[in-house]
Amino acid sequence: MVAVTTRTPLIAGNWKMNLDHLQAVAFVQKLHWALKDAKHEFDAVDVSVFPPFTDIRSVQTLIDADKIPFGLGAQDLSAHDSGAYTGEISGAFLKRLDVAQVIIGHSERREYHSESDELVAAKVKAALKHGLVPVVCVGETAEDLEKHGASAVPVGQLEVALDGVASTAEIVVAYEPVWAIGSGQAATPDQAQEVCATLRDVVRAKLGDDAAARTRILYGGSVKAANIASFMRQPDVDGALVGGASLLVDEFAAIIRFQKHVGV
Ligand code: PGA
Repeated sequence: MVAVTTRTPLIAGNWKMNLDHLQAVAFVQKLHWALKDAKHEFDAVDVSVFPPFTDIRSVQTLIDADKIPFGLGAQDLSAHDSGAYTGEISGAFLKRLDVAQVIIGHSERREYHSESDELVAAKVKAALKHGLVPVVCVGETAEDLEKHGASAVPVGQLEVALDGVASTAEIVVAYEPVWAIGSGQAATPDQAQEVCATLRDVVRAKLGDDAAARTRILYGGSVKAANIASFMRQPDVDGALVGGASLLVDEFAAIIRFQKHVGV
């Protein structure tokens, strides 16, 4: 019943480019009802949803009106505060919409939008400046894994992302092996534990012992109800960043309720 970690687990749903604002409202309502029906203890696990930008205002209005205890997240932000940056979204705007967390450096941004480690680092600073918690994504491709092993690339990415970050800053780290994302082939719990423990060492080296003890490190990549418990048994895995399975009400509710799975 008791998770190994003393950090409050975080189950985060990255919707990517799915669900328009009407679908988003219906989804959040259904997920909340499903959890209430199951008598879920909302204090035991933090839940965040990361809708597309165009949904955020609608979801904010719903969770505020119905007092739904979900964190609201965004999938990206600009490194800039305001100005001539067509198509970009400022952290200041997100904060005004009660967004609490923002995914930064997802592998799909790194790959399809050529986001460098340096840009990721600038976005982490922008998020913190505007009072948002950055969910910093790191992970190796299949090729990196073969050439350098699992940890080398994510460690390097995290070191750059944390450059100049204050030791008191609240951040979340998500270890997402690129080969596991959307593939149906998750890492093994042992692999996830090993890399997450190494990433915690990076947090310790860059931000100190307190930050290492406090920072939540998530695993992401083909997480589903059937495998979440095996990840959550690992001492350095504090939650999950869930893509595809976060779009299915019953499946996502079952992931959030991992503490009720046998043996956790
Ligand atoms: P997945 O995606 O759960 O569909 O593998 C995870 C992610 O990209 O954050």
